[in-house]
Parts: sequence; structure tokens; C-alpha cells
Amino acid sequence: MRITVNNKVVEALEGETLLEVCRRVGIHVPSLCYAPNAVYKPSCMVCMVLDETRSQMVPSCSTYPVEGMRIDTQSDQVVSLRKMALDLLLRDHRADCEAPCVTVCPHGLNIEGMLASYDRKDYLRARKYLAAVFDLPSVACDDCKAPCEKVCRRNSVDAHVEIRSIVKELAAKEDLVVKGDPSDVEVQDRTRFTSRQGVFSEQEKTRLRAEQPLPSNCLHCACAARKDCRLRDLASEAGIKTPRFGVSSAQPFKKRKHITGDLWFEPAKCIHCGLCVYNSRDGFSFKGRGFTMQVDIPEASYGNVNESLAELCPTGALSIIR
Ligand code: SF4
Ligand code: SF4
Ligand code: SF4
Ligand code: FES
Repeated sequence: MRITVNNKVVEALEGETLLEVCRRVGIHVPSLCYAPNAVYKPSCMVCMVLDETRSQMVPSCSTYPVEGMRIDTQSDQVVSLRKMALDLLLRDHRADCEAPCVTVCPHGLNIEGMLASYDRKDYLRARKYLAAVFDLPSVACDDCKAPCEKVCRRNSVDAHVEIRSIVKELAAKEDLVVKGDPSDVEVQDRTRFTSRQGVFSEQEKTRLRAEQPLPSNCLHCACAARKDCRLRDLASEAGIKTPRFGVSSAQPFKKRKHITGDLWFEPAKCIHCGLCVYNSRDGFSFKGRGFTMQVDIPEASYGNVNESLAELCPTGALSIIR
């Protein structure tokens, strides 16, 4: 069967959806809730294309071609509808891709990474983060106005992490010689989209205050999935800088459940695509309806799912953390 995509005639094969036709002939159409070898149902709407024959926007992952169909995948109208779909998903998505301190450091220091090593007492690795941007032992934090400490999420809980003091403490450990290439530590890419946590509720502040603090007092805001998250990739591709509708999710900050093996579930990052629900038996399920709908799994069902669900999940809601 022949259809026209962006004014180009292409062959559609038996059983293929519009999304699959496009991808096979090299036309990029984004997707989140689609998974080629798994059960899926359309929900995210980021794969929308314009069916010019019917003047209608359709989800390409679940629409099948018909002879003579004319499809547009790239006009401004299509691109802005997909962007709107992403903005709506992000409104209900409460998490920081990158820690706020990292996004503002004028020297590009990966503060959160450095503090994670510091908290593990791996001071040599922590110094590697410094060596990646400073000429050790000289660091430029004394002359800096420390925007990192101003934006630190810990401010609203009690007091910001003493980032500059920790930097100085580490820089002074001259007996720990940084060997090898300091660039093997992650330096953050500021060109990419970063999601927002929003403000902490009073209840959350109380919980965070009561938790045993780490040596640095850091909350480790960054997301474990930041390097390969499909939601983040698409938001970056769509040029989203700040989520248009803010963050209105009531899901708690970094409240993770250990499911099985190295698989963890963080509800605040779930976009309710349903992939884990449709592809686990007696595992994840939808709870509630409409705006209050959530995905969850009862503790008694943890043994019914496995780590491969993290591969299916398009966000960091299900991730492997070792
Ligand atoms: S799940 Fe993706 S979009 Fe959300 S915080 Fe993590 S990296 Fe960012
Ligand atoms: S709590 Fe830690 S990771 Fe979060 S902003 Fe403060 S220093 Fe950065
Ligand atoms: S946890 Fe499940 S429903 Fe939520 S985003 Fe991941 S795969 Fe989709
Ligand atoms: S990928 Fe088509 S609706 Fe989500």
C-alpha cells in the first residue's frame, strides 16, 4: 500500500502503524508510550501526526495507514501539539534531572557528583570532580558569589549545603594526588532540558529534617536516569527550557520503593504510560481515575516483576540503581 508522508510517496507494509512506517523509511517521529516488542496503549500523545486526508491529528503509534493517506509529521502545527503534550506530562512530573546547584555553577563543577563521592568518603574521586574544572589546589570559589548555595534545595528545609567549605576542604587534601584523566568524571551538559522539583510542602520539610543527614547534608537532587531518559531527550529536542505549566504533582520528593534486585520505583517520575502495567502480570496497576490516577504495585507483588521493566520505562520512574 502506498501513502504520502511529507509529500513523499512511501510503501506501508502489512501490519505496520504510521509510526513504524515513518521510522522504517528514516522519518523521525518521537514516542514515549510506544514500545516495539511490548504491549502498549496510546497515552502520551507525543507521536501525533496530521492526517491531511481527514484534517485530523492522530497518534501515529496506533493509527494504521489506508491507501492514498497523506501524512504530515513536521509542520509547525504538529510540532507545537507534541510540545504541548510534553508540557502536560512535565506538569505532573516532579523531579530534578540535574541538581539545581550544578546548573548554576559558573565553573561547571558537578557539585552533586562531587558531594556524592564526599558522602561515600571517596575523597580521591571527589577531588577528581574538582580537578576536572580547577587547577588544583587552587579553586575559584572564594571569589564566587556562590549561586550554588543560593539555589540549594536544602535552603527551604533548614540551611544550604556548605558547598564552598567542602570544596576548600577537598582542595586542601594535597596528600590525595589525582592521577589519570580527571575528565572520566561526569561534567554536566547545560544545553539539555532539566525538569523541576517545585517547592517542598511543610510535611515534606518535616520528613527531610527528620531523616538522618549525609555527611555533606546534601539531598542529592539529581536523577539517576538523567543520561538516558527518553522524556528528557524529547523535552530537550523540543527546545523546552522550563515546563510551561510548572509542576503541580503532589508526589513526594525522591520517595523511592525498592522493588526487586536493583529495580527501584519512584512514583513522582511516572508519566502513567502504562508500559509496566501492560507488561507485568499481577505486578503494576493503575489506581484511581482521571487527574488522581496513579501507577503502583503492592508489596506482595514485588516478586512478580523483574528488572527488564526499567528498559521499557521511558523515564526514571523505574530505574536500575546499584
Ligand atoms: S525522569 Fe527524566 S525528565 Fe524526569 S528528572 Fe529524571 S532525567 Fe529528568
Ligand atoms: S541538596 Fe545537594 S544536590 Fe541539591 S541543590 Fe543542594 S547541594 Fe545541590
Ligand atoms: S513507571 Fe510504568 S507507567 Fe510509569 S512511566 Fe514507567 S513504565 Fe510508564
Ligand atoms: S507514543 Fe503514541 S501516544 Fe505515546
